Amino acid sequence: MSPAPPLTAAPPLLLLLLLIGPATCYRPWPNTKPNSTNSLYGGSKKYEGSSEFVHLKYHMGPVLTSNITVYPIWYGAWRTPQKHIIREFIESISAFDSKPPSVSGWWKTVRLYTDQTGSNISRAVHIGEEKNDRFYSHGKSLTRLSVQSVIKSAVSASTRPLPINPKSGVYLLLTSDDVYVQDFCNNVCGFHYFTFPSIVGYTLPYAWVGNSAKLCPGVCAYPFAVPDYIPGLKAVKSPNDDVGVDAMISVIAHEIAELATNPLVNAWYAGGDPVFPVEIADLCEGIYGTGGGGSYTGQMLNGKDGATYNMNGIRRRFLVQWVWNHLVNYCTGPNALD
Ligand SMILES: *[C@@H]1O[C@H](CO)[C@@H](O)[C@H](O)[C@H]1NC(C)=O
Ligand SMILES: *[C@@H]1O[C@H](CO)[C@@H](O)[C@H](O)[C@H]1NC(C)=O
Ligand SMILES: *[C@@H]1O[C@H](CO)[C@@H](O)[C@H](O)[C@H]1NC(C)=O
Repeated sequence: MSPAPPLTAAPPLLLLLLLIGPATCYRPWPNTKPNSTNSLYGGSKKYEGSSEFVHLKYHMGPVLTSNITVYPIWYGAWRTPQKHIIREFIESISAFDSKPPSVSGWWKTVRLYTDQTGSNISRAVHIGEEKNDRFYSHGKSLTRLSVQSVIKSAVSASTRPLPINPKSGVYLLLTSDDVYVQDFCNNVCGFHYFTFPSIVGYTLPYAWVGNSAKLCPGVCAYPFAVPDYIPGLKAVKSPNDDVGVDAMISVIAHEIAELATNPLVNAWYAGGDPVFPVEIADLCEGIYGTGGGGSYTGQMLNGKDGATYNMNGIRRRFLVQWVWNHLVNYCTGPNALD
């Protein structure tokens, strides 16, 4: 049995409501209401000041310190406007002229992580070659291992194969809204790992993120969609008019941040068990602004059009979860209020 790839779970509110294990969620800001969230959301209390958090540790493995190239694999039926949103988000990571709070400001927290030599995570993240797999080469239901076979097909295609770039490449498998991936919706919205030479021929860091719009928006597209069984909870308007894709952005951000700091799952993570590493984005899942934690997303921004977001990128706005800052020991993001 191979170890399971680190999973990106649904936002913590849902985790707690569904009674699935402890949420990897933490109230990051100085506690202004000492007892309130603890008593309401017992799950988050477990981690407060606990060693798991203090001990986010570097385990001596490599991190992505040179220009990162993201190779998208579009699996299934993707519309051009959907691809635009995702491409522009990825290019926004190193677009330094976006209006603050910006996606490049968000990446600054990721850049705080270094390897043994003291080199920081690369500031440059760009899109490389792309592959379309529009006829579902491995069917409409993928397992964790068949995800690797999809990547194998993309890097060994007879026409325009993706380049092999184990040092600074990130292979991003994006599945359309009619594709099921093992554990998807069962509180899993994405994962990252590295490919096995026995399947792909190389060790390549990769991530999978699915479009949940049809299968389970209430689980993976929160807060742009809410589960039916919670009365009174209202969805917020998504910034690019595509609930499924706008929600994928935060999961893609989560996976890229973790791939950069823990590409071979032997670099930056908390917890004693490398089979279940708690990584820099896991620690801040569901937190999009100041005060976030427990079931609260934190303070976000509202556009004139009523859309909810928390950062600007190239021509667009995005809602992206924060990531853990190991220098101050809490989650940080560009839209933090002083
Ligand atoms: C928090 O709980 C402690 C002990 O349970 C209590 O003494 C204190 O007054 C509480 N603080 C608030 C603000 O409720
Ligand atoms: C990294 O990218 C920058 C521009 O984004 C470029 O100037 C530089 O040469 C690249 N470095 C390497 C090693 O490819
Ligand atoms: C590199 O990482 C160190 C240690 O976290 C940090 O102090 C420094 O500001 C980082 N440099 C950049 C350019 O982010």
